Amino acid sequence: MKALKVQATKGMADILPDSAEKHKLPAISLWHFLEKIVRELMANYVYEEIRFPILENTALFTRSLGEVTDIVEKEMYTFLDGNVSVTLRPEGTASCVRACIENGLLRNQQLQRLWYLGPMFRHEQPQYGRYRQFYQFGVEAFGLSGPEIDAEQIVMLANLWNKLGIGAATTLEVNNLGCQQARAIFKQDLIKYFAKYKDQLDEDCNKRLYKNPLRILDSKNPKLQELIANAPVLTNYLKDEDKQHFDKFLAKLVDLQVPYRINNRLIRGLDYYNRTVYEWVTDKLGAQAAICAGGRYDSLAEQLGGPNTPAVGFAMGVERVLLLMQTQGVVAKKKLDGYLICAGDAAVERSLVLAAKIRSLCPNFALAMNYEGGSFKSQFKKADKSGAKIALVIGDDELVNNTITIKFLREEQAQKTILFTQLQQILGGYCGNLSN
Ligand code: HAM
Repeated sequence: MKALKVQATKGMADILPDSAEKHKLPAISLWHFLEKIVRELMANYVYEEIRFPILENTALFTRSLGEVTDIVEKEMYTFLDGNVSVTLRPEGTASCVRACIENGLLRNQQLQRLWYLGPMFRHEQPQYGRYRQFYQFGVEAFGLSGPEIDAEQIVMLANLWNKLGIGAATTLEVNNLGCQQARAIFKQDLIKYFAKYKDQLDEDCNKRLYKNPLRILDSKNPKLQELIANAPVLTNYLKDEDKQHFDKFLAKLVDLQVPYRINNRLIRGLDYYNRTVYEWVTDKLGAQAAICAGGRYDSLAEQLGGPNTPAVGFAMGVERVLLLMQTQGVVAKKKLDGYLICAGDAAVERSLVLAAKIRSLCPNFALAMNYEGGSFKSQFKKADKSGAKIALVIGDDELVNNTITIKFLREEQAQKTILFTQLQQILGGYCGNLSN
């Protein structure tokens, strides 16, 4: 039968041990480095991990994100499972809120600080930094209505960028979306304004004019920029409480020494936000400038049938952050600790057993070994090429005497022969898989 060559689905990348040329994505070691830092950060700020399904009922997203949003209108992977419409999650906030309500996590005004990391799916036109399957690291805090938590999440992110080596390449943009009522009046005025220029609007904007005119402000169409620049500004519609919340939030950012830029046009592409919204952007990734985005969504829990619960969170695009790390020269090389060389028939015969013994004695020691025989010299060459820090040599003498010889491959030091029982103690100093 003729072979059938099947390729990955468009916009869905393989993450490989080495850098994935096709999608220009970094090697898995950089992912691991980022994931390790993220877990440490979450423990440091006392957030707990939550995992929810990849597939949800479609209604969850249409209700939470809004009917007239890019995601719901054209980017969701939706299909029938029997007679139930289901969707591959395009983001995590809606699922997180659903999971909290369903499991009683928001009962009695409980505080919850949660994080998640996993794949999301959006049927977008793929390009550098934009994929149809992409990973998000997200954080959601429930039960806190003051601006302190908004600011804490921001400083946590500023901290994260520094730990990942991209602090200098990111800029924070913030805006105040106010409350739903203020936005409703603003919306009416926007409709009145843009309706006057209906002929000039493109097809997308015309579609949004009466349903979601705020999204027109988000348009990237160069021909519309002047029209947009002269449109009413949301700031003029905000209520005092919303202004106070935002002012306090900004004051906290100053206290925390996190620089920001106010962007009055930052609307966000999802309907659930109110008050604080923000995006971290970079000029190093071309069109895909947003590496992380978030804000408050105080009415979503109630909208989804749960208790009235203030909430704030963000999600970071993992691929974009990794690509940014790459542009900043951040590397996380895999490091091999040791390479086992067995010389002589008896030692070669026992090599697998010996390697298993070393691995169980020293579980954090990354040990490679030679499976192909060959002279001592050729094995030694392989050990050197492998990048290992040391070679562990077992020959006839070592086998008889229950010893092992350590040869230092990367430093000037005379080889030494030790008792096998001393191995654990000696190898401790050579463990560790990730640099940085
Ligand atoms: P979002 O702005 O839709 O917000 O996505 C957050 C981040 O995910 C973006 O800033 C970007 O880095 C990344 N991202 C989005 N689409 C793609 C794509 N197609 N390929 C690669 N990366 C992408 C949310 O998803 C909200 N749930 C954030 C949030 C959490 N708000 C409150 N809590």
